[in-house]
Amino acid sequence: MSQDLYLLLKIAHILGAALWAGPLIAVLWPIFRGADNNAITLLRLTGWPATAGLLVAGLSGLGLGYLRGLDWGVIVKIVVFLVLAASGVVGHYFVSKERKLLREGVMSGRTKAGLVFAIIITVVLIIMGTLLRFGLYI
Ligand code: HEM
Repeated sequence: MSQDLYLLLKIAHILGAALWAGPLIAVLWPIFRGADNNAITLLRLTGWPATAGLLVAGLSGLGLGYLRGLDWGVIVKIVVFLVLAASGVVGHYFVSKERKLLREGVMSGRTKAGLVFAIIITVVLIIMGTLLRFGLYI
């Protein structure tokens, strides 16, 4: 029974992680090509599904951690996840001050830096998840 639950949580975890990380990483392309307006449209269209994905990944991750035992690898992952969630809240506060600029299709350097920071943290979470999956950490 708990094996079935573990499998379900893993599927939810991967789907949630993909829903979050996919659009976030994809937004790098329009940013690097200087197509700010396309990056803004992508973020507008995917913001809510991606946030839902992050929540699903976080909650299912907690479930996985609980079932397999809260060892230090899982605890570090929870801390990194909280850093990402907190940076999202702070980032939104700053973005709310740039609405006019964003409506004109321009993204500030600060917002771009925030996005790159979120991408780096997300890649760290994915690498940590893979290490947990294969028991590769010491
Ligand atoms: C509170 C937050 C999180 C916790 C406690 C957590 C916990 C875990 C655990 C325990 C595993 C190992 C599962 C297993 O194979 O038995 C795992 C795997 C994984 N996690 Fe997370 N996770 C969290 C958030 C995230 C987020 C936000 C992402 C991505 C953006 C993510 C991406 C992954 C990936 C890619 C794997 C590898 C899955 C596999 O290869 O089977 N995790 N996570």
